Amino acid sequence: MKQIELAVIAGDGIGKEVVPEALRVLDVVAEIHGGLKFSSTYHPWSSEYYVQHGEMMPKDGLSHLTQSDAIFLGAVGDSSLVADHISLGGLLLKIRREFEQVINIRPAKQLKGIVSPLGNPQNFDIMIVRENSEGEYSSIGGRVHSGEDEIVIQNAVFTKKGVSRVINYAFELAQKRSSHVTSATKSNGIVHSMPFWDEVFKEVAGNHGDVQTNSEHIDALSAFFITKPQTLDVVVASNLFGDILSDIGAAIMGSIGIAPSGNINLNGKYPSMFEPVHGSAPDIFGKGIANPVGQIWTAKMMLDHLGEHEMGRILLGAIEESMQSGIKTTDIGGNSSTSEVTDEIIHKLRNK
Ligand code: NAI
Ligand code: MG
Repeated sequence: MKQIELAVIAGDGIGKEVVPEALRVLDVVAEIHGGLKFSSTYHPWSSEYYVQHGEMMPKDGLSHLTQSDAIFLGAVGDSSLVADHISLGGLLLKIRREFEQVINIRPAKQLKGIVSPLGNPQNFDIMIVRENSEGEYSSIGGRVHSGEDEIVIQNAVFTKKGVSRVINYAFELAQKRSSHVTSATKSNGIVHSMPFWDEVFKEVAGNHGDVQTNSEHIDALSAFFITKPQTLDVVVASNLFGDILSDIGAAIMGSIGIAPSGNINLNGKYPSMFEPVHGSAPDIFGKGIANPVGQIWTAKMMLDHLGEHEMGRILLGAIEESMQSGIKTTDIGGNSSTSEVTDEIIHKLRNK
């Protein structure tokens, strides 16, 4: 029996609704597999926890997560209780940073049964590999003077280690997919960091002769997501470019409520963390209408990460069959509730 230890943080808002649903699905996955068992440790860390304890997680919180095989997170943020920069900074970003989750992966795939807003969507299946630790999101810089004389400087940080790490990851992933990597660049306008990015991309490509490559400027590439997404496979991007591309990716899939993501630790020192792209959606919290697909697809990515590719494939198939049967939440044109969608996915799983 393979026992998988999960650290579960449902967090705020709809995180508290969709995480239990996805865990229900995972239990059925384990049952069907026969040799798999999930054992979950629940952590109540959230904005409510902050109100009670004055912090988003206990001082030694991270030490409670280190022994787990993966962290399964819902969403963080309830601005009626805590300012967003404090809640996200004190929990989500802290885990990503301290656990050296240096890569963020987000699929943008056309799911059967879900209508893409694209006019004539071809069968697209993209994996966006985003640098998650440096790049444009650095705190180096500052502001001096005020009024007309104000000067603001914001520096980006690109290290050889960080850039080659993310590009290598993209090539290795491509070898398991359609063997094609597209690099998001902007070396025609950003004259130091992006030519460097291109150099490292060429160097890594040289070591992976079996993988086809191309390099596109970010503005053109953003347009290609809309006009010819079917031509893209793995897309590797800096922190900012990857952030923007993955939102376009979620949009062309049909709803932010279905988009999953993984924050990957590569050095094996700490667990990786899996979370849907969406936030806590306070506007629909408590109504039982949150789409659980983002969280359940996130569970599929976690299964892949844990080496359970076959179960991951079966789970995604069950999600697509459920969508095709019309049992969907309102954000994707249905009228079913969160738990009805989960029940249908479980039903399809059991009949596979
Ligand atoms: P959001 O993703 O929570 O919601 C944006 C829109 O999408 C809303 O209309 C919402 O109802 C809808 N939506 C999101 N997930 C859905 C689902 N599963 N099913 C159906 N509809 C869904 O983003 P927003 O409103 O900007 O942020 C709300 C809170 O969440 C804030 O406190 C923000 O800081 C936090 N947040 C947390 C994230 C995380 O934990 N990774 C990511 C994004 C936002
Ligand atoms: Mg974003």
